[in-house]
Amino acid sequence: MSISPNTIQKIQQAVEIVDVVSDFVSLKKKGSSWQACCPFHNERTPSFSVSPSKGIFHCFGCHKAGNAVTFVMEADKCSYPEALRYLAKKYHIEIEETHTTDEQAAQQSLRESLLIALQFAKEKYSQDLMQTDEGQSLGLGYFKERGFNQATIQKFELGYSLDAWQGLESKALAKGFSQEILEKSGLIIKKDDGKTYDRFRGRVMFPIHNLAGKTIGFGARTLKKDDKPKYLNSPETEVYIKNEILYGIYQAKNAIRNQEECFLTEGYTDVLSLHQNGIENVVASSGTALTDNQIRLIKRFTDNITVLYDGDSAGIKAALRGIDLLLAQGMNVKAVVFPDNEDPDSYVRKVGGEAFRQYLASKSKDFITFKTELYLGEVGNDPVKKAGIIRNIVESISKIPDSIKRAVFFKQTSQLLGISEDILIAESNKLVIAEQKKASQQTATQNQVFATELQQDALIEGLTAQTLEAVSKESVEKIIGYQEKESIRLLLRYGQYYVNNEQQLWQYLFEELVEITFHTPVYKEILTLYQTATQKNEVVDVEYLMAKGSPEVQTMVSHLLWEKYSISENWQKMYGIFIPQETDVLPKSVYSNILRLKHRLLEKIIAENLQKLQNLAAPEEEETILTTHLQLTQTKNQIAKLLGSVVTGWVN
Ligand code: CTP
Ligand code: MN
Repeated sequence: MSISPNTIQKIQQAVEIVDVVSDFVSLKKKGSSWQACCPFHNERTPSFSVSPSKGIFHCFGCHKAGNAVTFVMEADKCSYPEALRYLAKKYHIEIEETHTTDEQAAQQSLRESLLIALQFAKEKYSQDLMQTDEGQSLGLGYFKERGFNQATIQKFELGYSLDAWQGLESKALAKGFSQEILEKSGLIIKKDDGKTYDRFRGRVMFPIHNLAGKTIGFGARTLKKDDKPKYLNSPETEVYIKNEILYGIYQAKNAIRNQEECFLTEGYTDVLSLHQNGIENVVASSGTALTDNQIRLIKRFTDNITVLYDGDSAGIKAALRGIDLLLAQGMNVKAVVFPDNEDPDSYVRKVGGEAFRQYLASKSKDFITFKTELYLGEVGNDPVKKAGIIRNIVESISKIPDSIKRAVFFKQTSQLLGISEDILIAESNKLVIAEQKKASQQTATQNQVFATELQQDALIEGLTAQTLEAVSKESVEKIIGYQEKESIRLLLRYGQYYVNNEQQLWQYLFEELVEITFHTPVYKEILTLYQTATQKNEVVDVEYLMAKGSPEVQTMVSHLLWEKYSISENWQKMYGIFIPQETDVLPKSVYSNILRLKHRLLEKIIAENLQKLQNLAAPEEEETILTTHLQLTQTKNQIAKLLGSVVTGWVN
């Protein structure tokens, strides 16, 4: 079966791109478009932009672009029909099916098969909870005893797995699911002798949802007091990637966005109890150490996080390491500990939602105060141990990307610990230097990244795969060369166009390029020819360049001028991706091209500068290099910011 064209049309008419994207990332309004940090690549300054009037999104950084349907496909890693089904559900549109061929059915991806099997399992566990004697007495009985009401059970789609070896498997096979899919989804286990049995038996089931609300795995709690393990979880599968997901994110995302804060707990039941008591901006790390990917997931919705530690948690210190990761991702981190033997679940049940909120408000501390008090309480005035703590705290502060925030925390720590700010900052600089040495060794990897960016740029520009392959093997210089080529192309095609009230494109370009020397000889030559000619008030056209240029220039000029930019049309037809007519956006593309060129050049200079750290002639050089590094990165960031704002304009 497949979705009828009629339904597809209805869906396309109903979707609001801002609304759709907002389910996956928090957008902020900027002029007529909406912005966010891109959900598809890691970044600190927003270059992802959504235009409600055009119904499209575009990321300047990674160049992903498309409409609401393609967005869902990317964000939820699903196929076209899956994305349509998701949107139909969201907008309450009934799906009309038409018959599919076997071939189409076979094309259904493994991911989708797993998701369908998991959805089936979730429904079965839920029915077994509500409709079987065993489920009602054991499963529902347990939830009641723990105080979970019907609304909570429904909201989190809780269930119960019957205490049988083939409870799920036999039903699933009868429904037509293959053993292979059941095994790959983690629902059944296959022994060496080929026998199979249900993974989850006689346990209450907590489905784990992805951002789109699909079940991707389960946590399953035993009902017996000392049964081990207490929680049995789905294994890592094609759809359940543990380090990328947090329990409860689907149910919490709107509250996190609205309240601009996320509470991070350890357990499934913490999330459930808090929700039931009206606190919905909460997720759980499921008892494991926080990962970068999980932090990025939260960061899509807010920068503010409060970590709620169990009062009896032996692992507070281990968990503290998670704080450094949060800081490094630019999160504002607070922490709170519960009284002995209480976790957020037991505490909220004891005092209720209102008192719980008050507890958080009065007891949560910024991470510096939290760490300092925690450690100082232990070591008293032992100077050696105290020095260790200071280093540890300085380490955390050094992770904060924002220098102003760092400065505030140095001041605060200095007051808390009675140590001069200068000493703290000196200590921090040592750490930063060590980090940057490491970074300089990664220049090779960086080059790789540049190359990938270039490929994406080039694809958009419609270059062929062969060109790309050749180019991606080349050095950073070549990448810059690409940007130079773009300047030249714009110059040759649109040199006479006015980009603002006073300037033609060539004037503007020359003014901006004054302090830049082109790397690639052929572009340099074209630029010089153009410059000399315009100074003599001669008209620079194809004939002129063909007559005066070297053979390389002649080849390049003809290539640049006859290159077809029909890609836009094709993209529009095939993917519904909107690409503005070049002349519509000319000033912006010139401007952004120059910014990009400068950005790339700076990246190169920064890498070269850092490379110097590896063979220092004298130790004092280190400081000079780092000072230069700071200045360069500041400039680079300014340019990146400017680029971000151009992009908004570009999309509109
Ligand atoms: N956990 C797990 N496997 C275990 C134990 C714990 O995956 N064997 C995870 C679960 O996600 C659990 C979390 O770690 O929710 C926290 O563990 P714990 O505090 O022991 O459980 P609670 O959530 O408090 O559960 P309960 O209140 O039912 O004991
Ligand atoms: Mn508990």
